[in-house]
Amino acid sequence: MPAPGARFFLARRARLRAAMATAGLDGLVVSSLPNITYLSGLAASAALALVTAERCWLISDGRYAQALRDRLDALPGLEAREVDGSGSYEQTLVSVIAEAGVSRLGFESAHVSVRRFRWLEAAAGSAVEWVETHEIVERLRAVKDPWEVATLREAAARLSDAAKCILANALAGSTEREVAARVEQELARVGFTRPAFDTIVASGPNAALPHHRAGTRRLMDGDLVVLDFGGVWHGYAVDVSRTRVVGRATARQAGWIEAVIKAQDAAVAAVRPGAAPERVDAAARASLDAAGLGEYFTHGTGHGLGLEVHELPRVGRRRPGVTEPPLLAGMVLTVEPGIYLPGEGGVRIEDDVLVTRGGRELLTDVPRMV
Ligand code: GLY
Ligand code: MN
Repeated sequence: MPAPGARFFLARRARLRAAMATAGLDGLVVSSLPNITYLSGLAASAALALVTAERCWLISDGRYAQALRDRLDALPGLEAREVDGSGSYEQTLVSVIAEAGVSRLGFESAHVSVRRFRWLEAAAGSAVEWVETHEIVERLRAVKDPWEVATLREAAARLSDAAKCILANALAGSTEREVAARVEQELARVGFTRPAFDTIVASGPNAALPHHRAGTRRLMDGDLVVLDFGGVWHGYAVDVSRTRVVGRATARQAGWIEAVIKAQDAAVAAVRPGAAPERVDAAARASLDAAGLGEYFTHGTGHGLGLEVHELPRVGRRRPGVTEPPLLAGMVLTVEPGIYLPGEGGVRIEDDVLVTRGGRELLTDVPRMV
């Protein structure tokens, strides 16, 4: 997979500048590292960016001097500043803000500590009006560009291959951790640079805990086992879950799995451009309600995927006072209904879905029942 070309980054920054103009901002301080990666390709453990109508500065420290030079060589329209002799990111940012001459300056309120904000506000002086922004870059990230769609499609195909290999092997007799280790070996084999999150292997009663982490329990005949894992491919996260029964499923267990499959089908069918995310969630919930299992569905139906494993759009129940924007072609999201019966077990089935102009495309492809 070649790296995204310069035109993708130029287009992303152009979309950001349009959003900044709408918000009346003449600059935006970007502190979220995934947002910085999105806008510039810089992947560093510490960085800041300042974007104005004309310019874009990246600030990082000596550990990333070469990475900054590489970005400047690869992409037009960037300027780089290594953290100066003060050793302070904040001090360096304040000098860049002065050079930019911005007055209405946005900052990402979800990604700046109160302490850092107070310091910046005092140091930048009264010429700068600081404006809180929320999810301005994240909303752009929610709609993938063609390079991102191709990357996520390839990542989901690789994840599906890994899932098929893992699920073809017997599970009985291993501990949850041993199964998780095999999952992570398989992720590496198919080319992922790292797992996207701590692999979940939840067996027997543990399957009733949606985010149980793999532990020392040994998988036994009759267990329901929820396997939920993901990988990062060229910086992009994909995520899949399947539920298996060790040995023969009881009629009750098979019924639960069928009910979750139906709920997932209903939710996937509701994915289309213009649909409110809550409608996708409601479709899964109505299906489980009809099966008498709605009370056991205790989380949202899905989340966006991209540079982070959980990003926009949010696909869940309507939150009081919040209207989530409608789905748009180019969004990539999980659809992962589940049921959790305390003390008994649980079922979750998760796939990755691209919103297309005509509706949807399933990116993952793994048998849901065996
Ligand atoms: N698959 C883990 C999660 O979505 O939280
Ligand atoms: Mn997920």
